Amino acid sequence: MNDKIQIKNALKESAIAILQKNDRGGYTVPTDGLYPFQWNWDAAITALGWATFDRKRAWEEIDYLLKGQWKNGMVPHILFHQPSDSYFPNADVWNVSDAVRGEVRSTSISQPPVLASVVKRLLEQKPDDAQERQRVAAYLPKLLAYHLWWYRDRDPENTGLVVSYHPWESGMDNSPAWDEALAAVPPVTWAYQRRDTQHVDSSERPKQAEYDRYLYLVDFFIKQDFDARRIYDNCPFKVQDMGIISILHRASKDLLTVCELLGVQNEHTQQLVEEIARTEKAIQQLWSEPHQSFLTKNVMTDSFCEVQTTGTLLALFAGLANADQAQKMSALLDDWLAASDYGVASTYPKHPTYEPQRYWRGPVWLHINWMIAEGLKDYQLTAQHQQVVNASKALIEKVGYWEYFNADTGEGCGGDVFSWTAAISLYWLLDD
Ligand code: DGY
Repeated sequence: MNDKIQIKNALKESAIAILQKNDRGGYTVPTDGLYPFQWNWDAAITALGWATFDRKRAWEEIDYLLKGQWKNGMVPHILFHQPSDSYFPNADVWNVSDAVRGEVRSTSISQPPVLASVVKRLLEQKPDDAQERQRVAAYLPKLLAYHLWWYRDRDPENTGLVVSYHPWESGMDNSPAWDEALAAVPPVTWAYQRRDTQHVDSSERPKQAEYDRYLYLVDFFIKQDFDARRIYDNCPFKVQDMGIISILHRASKDLLTVCELLGVQNEHTQQLVEEIARTEKAIQQLWSEPHQSFLTKNVMTDSFCEVQTTGTLLALFAGLANADQAQKMSALLDDWLAASDYGVASTYPKHPTYEPQRYWRGPVWLHINWMIAEGLKDYQLTAQHQQVVNASKALIEKVGYWEYFNADTGEGCGGDVFSWTAAISLYWLLDD
């Protein structure tokens, strides 16, 4: 066996071992201790990894995630399947009322809805398997309800651009895109003890002032009785996040493809077609010529969050950039990629807020490398696509499966033996 094959096999084995270690019987924790529950977009990405060696378990991951779906269609960001005291804030702090939640206790926000994109990929791997088609057919009403929830509750004025209410909802918690918007949120006044900094060095995590505001928003949702309209009207943090808008858009198109593959057409699919068209028109409002990029908008001040992040690059994954915009983003990306040997730093490295090791302020995240690479492939930006693939392979060969990676040095950061990093490697970089 030559060296390359040996390295690949060893990487595969250790990635599989990570998913098995993090398996809690139907759902996978992102990593032990730091994140002891099921997270929404982690679960979707993790299912892609399971599918490379255990399809039954991949589908189970999705079954477990959908158990948490709220009555209004929302799929929450964390499902607290079992109690654990290694994480804060827990289910009691979120205090979601039984009247609104699904089968499992959860948080009261969602997360980037990549789930339908994952389901499409799984279905396309075995398009003629009757049992799997049946399973996906049973998901469809739930997935449609989830997507229509985004458009209904998060865009009640039909602007074409959904809003989100919490940095945790973006999945990119302490991105500099939120700095100004979050500074306008009051801090909580009660004392609490963070658990994340007991697992990970605080230089790699969000700062205390950010946590104080994350928690204010958690309390705020409780005070509004989780009522969609009251939250829309009064929430002090409201952004049109290019990351969420892009992932939702791609997933909505993928969901329609799944519906077509299964011969499903109804008033809900028709509505989805309309929502997709609305976003395609509205997205031009978020293009900034001076930044050569789309930008996230702070709805509270009606102004751009003036920093390019990997969230803004996800317009390529969504197919939302026109040809001219894609060329401009590609030129920007050349500059961006020159700064790191490991793929796409989460903040544009020339921006003054860039910090190569601090969570979403600079580090490279492997599942984001994958989404951007997919977008580059779709736009036939072949050389850049290959560059991101090669950098990602180099990264896992060098340090393995960390939560994220210092964009300057490639060093592993955050949680070790991390499920979505192992899973996306199995699916994207290591599968034959
Ligand atoms: C955390 O606790 O750091 C998570 O990112 C919240 O989703």
